[in-house]
Amino acid sequence: MNAIFLGPPGAGKGTHASRAAASLGVPYIGTGDMLRGAIAGGTRVGLEAKAYIDAGDLVPDGIVIGIARERLGMPDCAGGFILDGFPRTIEQAWALAGFGRIDRVISVELDDEALIERIAGRRVCGGCGGIHNVETLGGRDECPVCSTPLARRGDDEPDVVRHRLEAYHRETAPLRDYYMGLGVIKSVRSDRPVPEVSADILAALAE
Ligand code: AP5
Repeated sequence: MNAIFLGPPGAGKGTHASRAAASLGVPYIGTGDMLRGAIAGGTRVGLEAKAYIDAGDLVPDGIVIGIARERLGMPDCAGGFILDGFPRTIEQAWALAGFGRIDRVISVELDDEALIERIAGRRVCGGCGGIHNVETLGGRDECPVCSTPLARRGDDEPDVVRHRLEAYHRETAPLRDYYMGLGVIKSVRSDRPVPEVSADILAALAE
């Protein structure tokens, strides 16, 4: 299964793409995580990407297409993969068509108001990479899985989130029509408990 998770910031793509990848036994590939890793590692890609991510802008296509192409060419992707956050522009989708077959696109959907609230409560673990929310942490500020202190993402500040949302509606939302035309997209609403949404996504991937 080669799948893409598409959707606005905070809709739950990372949460559900990583759960689906674990269930299916295929690698989870998040371009946001890869870019943040590159920034933390001080690589050339990280240095180029940092200003765009901090501002809530999309990183230029040439950079992101390069890292996606390289990652999908690795041997562990031969049996399938789940992509989170790539492609995000029509140019990226066209490029991907040249180096990755796509069986299914999951469009994770949530209203703007609700996703702004979710992002405000998001806490991430720098240890295991887990994604959490103050709603379910019961006041804890350490990761419930590995006990590493949790943090907010630098690009989760309200003015940056607004900018990311504008970029989504302008650049990424049109991809739904593109994949609709290819007959591979399924929409799943994310305004329900995580296990319920995950079950619907696994069913949509199995169709
Ligand atoms: P990226 O890291 O991909 O961020 P994003 O797409 O903006 O999405 P988020 O990670 O904010 O949200 P999500 O949908 O994964 O939600 P999550 O599961 O965390 O990209 C960051 C930046 O990198 C971009 O702005 C851009 O600059 C750059 N970039 C990356 N890819 C690029 C590309 N292809 N091209 C160009 N630039 C690129 O969930 C959110 C919260 O909700 C969490 O707290 C979670 O616990 C909670 N939650 C999830 N589901 C539920 C539920 N069902 N009920 C209650 N709470 C829930």
